[in-house]
Amino acid sequence: MNFHILTLFPEMVMQGLSTSIIGKAIERGLISIEAVNIRDYTTDKHGKVDDYTYGGGAGMLMQAQPVYDAYQAVAGKISGEGIAKNKDENVNSRARVIYVTPQGRTFNQKMAKDFAKEKDLIFLCGHYEGIDERVLEEIVTDYVSIGDYVLTGGELPAMVMIDSISRLVPGVLHNEESATTESFHNDLLEYPQYSRPEVWMGKRVPEILLSGDHAKVDKWRLEQSIERTKRLRPDLYEKWKLRQE
Ligand code: ADE
Repeated sequence: MNFHILTLFPEMVMQGLSTSIIGKAIERGLISIEAVNIRDYTTDKHGKVDDYTYGGGAGMLMQAQPVYDAYQAVAGKISGEGIAKNKDENVNSRARVIYVTPQGRTFNQKMAKDFAKEKDLIFLCGHYEGIDERVLEEIVTDYVSIGDYVLTGGELPAMVMIDSISRLVPGVLHNEESATTESFHNDLLEYPQYSRPEVWMGKRVPEILLSGDHAKVDKWRLEQSIERTKRLRPDLYEKWKLRQE
């Protein structure tokens, strides 16, 4: 799985994604992450990538030209397939281009699973007041948000999404089971877990977990998941209940 990130702050995403599990996955060749500096593609002799908005309004807008040329450089490299002539062609046969924006669909585990099937993904990170609409129309296939709040740029959302997609790539998590038993799998939150010691601050690990009876443990965990989901995420619980019927 290859991630390509179009950004004005390549060092931010590379640093953020080079440690721990994701860093190991890169070292092991399971995923690759390339940050492309949009500024390297501007034709402006002063290296400018933004300008005022037509019609007035506060702030600066990222211009179409450097974004498009950065995209073309990446798309041209991917599988040597060349560049999509238009957005529709992109949807059908080219790498998906995800524009991270608060105006997009809210990212969730189901979308992470869907994106994890791709060979290449291109993330486009905006800054300032956003990006000229014309280049978005030309190259973007997916508009995705990470929640109803506004950040200063798209780098953190892109990193959030790349982290959650990467851990679904086969081999990235050593324990394959953990990607299927954790929270949001089956619309339920994960059950509570305990490690040594058996008693900590006077609190005892639930007796059933020490019983060695796997069927009973599984039943207890499912009950805990259901109870916890009902209490903490009634919206998810309703979804789960509907699916049971
Ligand atoms: N850029 C700024 N805020 C964002 C958000 N909430 N999600 C995705 N991209 C963003």
